[in-house]
Amino acid sequence: MSQVIGYEKVGDIAVLSANNPPVNALGVDVRRGLLAGIERAETEGALAVLIYGEGRTYFAGADIREFGKPPQEPWLPALCDRIEASPLLVVSALHGTALGGGLEVALSCHYRIAIPSTKVGLPEVNLGIIPGAGGTQRLPRVAGVEAALDMITTGRHVRAPEALEMGVLDKVQDGNPRDIGLAYVQDLLEANAPRRPVCEMARPVAIDFDAAYDAVLKKGRGQLSPAIAVRAVQASCESADFAAGQARERELFMELMASDQRKGLIHAFFAERAVSKLPELQGISPRDLHKIGVIGGGTMGAGIATSALLAGLAVVLLEMSPEAAHAAKDRIAANLAGAVKRGKLSTVEHDDILQNRLTLATDYDALGDVDLAIEAVFEDMEVKKQVFARLDAVCKNGAVLATNTSYLDINEIAGSVRRPGDVIGLHFFSPAHVMKLLEIVVADQTAPEVAATGFALGKRLGKVSVRAGVCDGFIGNRILNTYRSCADHMVLDGASPFQIDTALTEFGFAMGPYAVSDLAGLDIGWAARKRKRTAGLDPRARDSFYADKLCETGHFGQKTGKGYYVYEMGKRGGTPNPEVMPLIEAERAERGISPRTFTDKEIVRRYMVAMVNEAAKVVGDGIARRPLDVDVTLLYGYGFPRYWGGPMKWADLQGLPTVLDDIRKWSEEASFFWQPAPLLEQLVAENRSFDDLNRET
Ligand code: 3HC
Ligand code: NAI
Repeated sequence: MSQVIGYEKVGDIAVLSANNPPVNALGVDVRRGLLAGIERAETEGALAVLIYGEGRTYFAGADIREFGKPPQEPWLPALCDRIEASPLLVVSALHGTALGGGLEVALSCHYRIAIPSTKVGLPEVNLGIIPGAGGTQRLPRVAGVEAALDMITTGRHVRAPEALEMGVLDKVQDGNPRDIGLAYVQDLLEANAPRRPVCEMARPVAIDFDAAYDAVLKKGRGQLSPAIAVRAVQASCESADFAAGQARERELFMELMASDQRKGLIHAFFAERAVSKLPELQGISPRDLHKIGVIGGGTMGAGIATSALLAGLAVVLLEMSPEAAHAAKDRIAANLAGAVKRGKLSTVEHDDILQNRLTLATDYDALGDVDLAIEAVFEDMEVKKQVFARLDAVCKNGAVLATNTSYLDINEIAGSVRRPGDVIGLHFFSPAHVMKLLEIVVADQTAPEVAATGFALGKRLGKVSVRAGVCDGFIGNRILNTYRSCADHMVLDGASPFQIDTALTEFGFAMGPYAVSDLAGLDIGWAARKRKRTAGLDPRARDSFYADKLCETGHFGQKTGKGYYVYEMGKRGGTPNPEVMPLIEAERAERGISPRTFTDKEIVRRYMVAMVNEAAKVVGDGIARRPLDVDVTLLYGYGFPRYWGGPMKWADLQGLPTVLDDIRKWSEEASFFWQPAPLLEQLVAENRSFDDLNRET
C-alpha cells in the first residue's frame, strides 16, 4: 500500500488517511494512493469511503513544486472525476486548510464534514492560475455563482461556519477529523443517504459575466488569473454539460500555467518562505523576548511599539519629555483603535494594552530590564550615538541593541558601544504596524544569536524578514535611490512625472514614484538631497532642482495639500499640479536640454533595468544574500507587482542578455549612471540566471 495514503477497513467503511507532511500536498504519490484506495475499497466490497488528513491539515492543494514539470498520472482532474464516479458513498472529513486541489478533492466527494477551525478556499489565482481540477465547475453548483466568484477571484480562506452556510460543507462538528468523519459516514449509511455527485447537479444560474470580468480585471491591476477565473465560472453556466465546462476550465488553466505571471507568483510564494532560511542561523537559538524598549515615539517608534504590543510583548517607550511621551501614547492609541475597528483587537485587549503593557518613560533607567531596545530617534549619527551610549550604560547583559536607521552606518554605531556584538539594524517600514517588511541589518560584529533574535522578533510580529548587510540604504532604499534617479533623469530629458507615474501603475506598481514622494512628504527627499550635496556629489552625477523649488514654496505633498499633485479634501488621489511642468521646463531651458518624447514602454524599461542593475550590485556586494532576498524586499516594502515575482525574477523572464544590452546601449549616453553590475555581466557570460543563483545559495 501507498506510503502516503493509509488504508484501513472500519466495518463497511474504507478509511483513506493522508500522511504527506507538512501540508498533505497532492503530489503524484498522494494521487496514486488515493486512486488505489478507491479501487481497493470498491474491490473489497466496502459500502463507503472516508478521506481525511493526518497531521496539521487536510490536503492544502496540489503540490506546487510539480508545476512546470512534466505532469505524472493520475492527473488531479481525472482523480477527482474518478472519486465522484465511485459507486460507493464517498465522504471527506476536513481540518486545517482545505485549499485549492484539496477543496477540489473534497468537492468531488459526495458529502463533506469539517471541524469548526477548518478553512476552505480556492487560492489558485494567487499563484497565477485558476482551479484546475473542477473547482470552477463544482463550486458554483454547490454555492451559487456569486459566492463561487467571490471565493475563486479573491482566493480568500473561508471559515467552516461560513462555508456551511454557503453549502460548501454539509456539517461542522467538534472533534478530530477521523472520529467525526466515521460517525458521519455511519449516520449517512444508516439513513440510506444517496450518493450525491456534484457534476449531476443542475447548471448554476448565470449572471452578467462580462461586467464581472471587467470589474475583476480592473481590481487586479494587471493580474490576469482572477479575470480568467470569471470566464471559467461562466463556462459552468453556459457549457452544454459538466464535461464541456471542465474542458474549458482545463484550457484556461493550461494557458495560465504557461504564463509569466504564474512563474512570477510561484517564485514569490517560495521566495517569501526562503528569506528567513539562512544557513548561518541553522541551529542558533534566539534570545528570549518578553519586554522591549522603544526610544523615540514619532512616526516609526509609535508604529514599532504598536506592532510589538499587538504581538503580546510588553513595551517601554522612552521620549525626550513627558509631553512627547504622551503624544507618542496618543499615536499608539490611534493605531490600536484602528486595529479594533478592523476587528483585529477586542476593546478589552485594547484597554489592557494601554493600561498594563505600555509604559512611558523619560529616564533611561526604565530600560534596565528590556530584552531588546530599538531606537527610532532622529536620523542623525550624533543623536543615535548618544542614545546608544545611554543604552550601553543601562541595558542588562544580553539585551539586543537595535537601530531603525534608514541609511546610517550601523558599523559606526556598533563601534561606539562596549558590546558591538549585541548591535543590529531592524529597519521597519512606515506604517510599521502595517507594513510586512522588516530588513534585518547584520553588521560586521553582530553575534549570530542576535541576528537569530532579529528573525524571531520579525516572526513574532508577523513580518517578512530579509537579511541585509550594511551600506547606504541597505537593500531596499539603496535600490530605490537608483531607480528614483533614473525617473528624475527621464523627467529632465522630456518625460513628465505624471507620464512616469501612469506608465508604472500600468505596469502594476501600486503607485508611481512621484505619487509616492507626495505621500512620504517631499521634505524628506529635499533634506536627503541637501545632505548629499553638502557631503559632495560626484561631479558626474546628474542632480536636479525643480523639486527643491516646489518645496521652497511650502509644497510638501499630501500633508500640505500640494506637491506633484493637488489634493482636495475628501477626494482620493490627486490631480496633476499645474505648477510642476513650468518648473521642470525652466530647468531644462537653463541646462540647454531639448526635451524628447518617451514612450510608456521605454519609461518602464529604463526604470526596471536601473532597478535590476543596482539590485545585481547589491547581491554582488553581499548586501543581499541571494536575488530572492531583493525580490521579497521590493514586493513587501515598495509595492512591486507580485505577479512579476520581484525585479530579479522580472529580469530572468526578460532574459538577462537583453537587460545587459540595454545598459551598455544607454551607457553610451550616460556612462556614469549606466555602469553594468559585474554580477550581471558574469551571469550573462556564463549563460546563467538570477534563479540559478537562488538555487545555489
Ligand atoms: N505544495 C507544495 N508545498 C507546499 C504547498 C503546496 N501546495 N503548500 C505549502 N507548502 C510547503 C511550503 O513551501 C513550506 O515548505 P518549507 O517548510 O520547505 O518552507 C511548508 O509546506 C509549510 O508551509 P508554510 O510555511 O506556508 O506553512 P503555514 O502553516 O504558514 O501555511 C498553508 C500553510 C496555509 C497551507 C500555506 O502553505 C499555503 O497557503 N499553501 C498554498 C496553498 C495553495 O495555494 N493551494 C493551492 C495550490 S494550487 C492547486 O491546488 C491547483 C489545483 O487547482 C489543480
Ligand atoms: P520622527 O521625527 O517622527 O520621530 C522621532 C522621535 O524621536 C520624535 O518623537 C522625537 O521626540 C524622538 N527623539 C529624538 N531624539 C530623541 C532622544 N534623544 N531620546 C528620545 N527620543 C528622541 O521620525 P521618524 O520618521 O519616526 O524616524 C525615526 C527613525 O526611523 C529615523 O532614523 C528614520 O530614518 C527611521 N525610519 C523612518 C521611516 C519613515 O518612513 N518615516 C521608515 C524607516 C525608518
